[in-house]
Amino acid sequence: MVNDRRPDDMVRITTKELANAFIEEQIAAMKEQIGDRKVLLALSGGVDSSVVAALLIKAIGQQLVCVHVNHGLLRKGEPEQVIEVFKNQMKANLIYVDATDRFLDKLAGVTDPETKRKIIGGEFIEVFAEEARKLDGVEFLAQGTIWPDILESEKGIKAHHNAGGLPEDMKFELVEPVKILFKDEVRVVGECLGLPENMVYRQPFPGPGLGVRCPGAITRDRLEAVRESDAILREEFEKAGLAGKVWQYFTVVPDFKSTGIKEGNRVFEWCVIIRAVNTTDAMTAEVENIPFDLMQLLAKRITSEVKGVNRVLYDFTPKPTATIEYE
Ligand code: XMP
Repeated sequence: MVNDRRPDDMVRITTKELANAFIEEQIAAMKEQIGDRKVLLALSGGVDSSVVAALLIKAIGQQLVCVHVNHGLLRKGEPEQVIEVFKNQMKANLIYVDATDRFLDKLAGVTDPETKRKIIGGEFIEVFAEEARKLDGVEFLAQGTIWPDILESEKGIKAHHNAGGLPEDMKFELVEPVKILFKDEVRVVGECLGLPENMVYRQPFPGPGLGVRCPGAITRDRLEAVRESDAILREEFEKAGLAGKVWQYFTVVPDFKSTGIKEGNRVFEWCVIIRAVNTTDAMTAEVENIPFDLMQLLAKRITSEVKGVNRVLYDFTPKPTATIEYE
């Protein structure tokens, strides 16, 4: 019988050996729990759901049905990586839903940040439930719940959690194979399962995705400017060796234009704001001291490669007073 709670004396999983022992134990437990029945998983491509998927693929193979909902607010290359890793390499039973138009149509003209979050969360559940209803005989729902989620929900800080919100008539038994692990342990387990490093060690990314980095009403062109500038920032941070060092870094494109000059002509375009912060718990954060030549390179690349952008700014405000995200 595998533990339902993290034992007080559990050794922190920091090595391959410990991770492999955990993997073997969980696979045996899941095989016993699930038998020959089917399991459904919302696979976002984040660390937790990816590790859960990889564990379940090992344990029950094609009895796992993964649903990847692309809400149109993911970073450049993310949906493609989920398909490549899970469908092409791991041969998972993966349903890919491109719901971009549905989300962006619902979000059109919505400026209030919390309303935007509610629409994104609500629509996500709806798309996922629609896919679930199309499937026959699924009895289990797998979730990437981790130990801090359980502790926070017990303290009343966080509602528990992913399954919350599914329609009343959709009842599943839960499969939560990483629920006694801390995040750093989930990463070690993910590495041992052969997941790509950039998936296992990726920076935190909010559920509402790029939607909160496109402040105010989201438009497709400004969202594209966020996605493209974010891709350039990630590429240059990777090259400069900052990718694994800086806790969270991204770009924001406010709904504001300023005058500039491109190819001798006056233009009126957006600015891209770069945010790069370090923290241990996201409650407070310090700004990364980005080398000036890297800032200049970023300004050059972003203004020449991203459509509709003529200016690049650096946000050097710690938290507090600023939050990490803009909405
Ligand atoms: P703030 O902006 O509050 O962010 O300083 C702290 C951390 O939380 C992340 N964040 C979110 N994560 N859903 C999420 O899953 C959200 O709505 C959300 N808002 C902020 C943020 O990226 C940072 O890591």
